[in-house]
Amino acid sequence: MEEPAIAPAEPEAPPATPVAVILCESGPSRRIEGFEGERLLDALLRAKAAVTPLCNGRACCGGCRIRIEKLWRDRVTPSGRGERSVLRYIDDPHEDDRLSCQIALSAEVEGLVVRMPERPPAPAQKGADAEELNAGK
Ligand code: FES
Repeated sequence: MEEPAIAPAEPEAPPATPVAVILCESGPSRRIEGFEGERLLDALLRAKAAVTPLCNGRACCGGCRIRIEKLWRDRVTPSGRGERSVLRYIDDPHEDDRLSCQIALSAEVEGLVVRMPERPPAPAQKGADAEELNAGK
């Protein structure tokens, strides 16, 4: 009797190489884990950082804005024209601002320090009349 053929095992994908990121929020900084080749945004989302990626990483909402310290500027993925355009129009811009959806993690950025910028207050808190805003005036 002939033995049934056994399909060769699928080659396993190599495990993703972890990349440590230091996240500085309002409290003490913490180490979060990303993986080589993934977007910084994805690591921030897993760590439940305060990002709001409304455009799902298409570099058009600015909700994933973070700050990269000068030391890291030349080591992270360079910003493209679309990213620079978005960053020009956000509230309270800073020269160290980047969009985390446009930064790929790699071994070169192991230990990357990421700061979460202070979020500007919502329009109602800026002094606008909240009742007017809620009434759609
Ligand atoms: S997720 Fe919208 S700009 Fe990055």
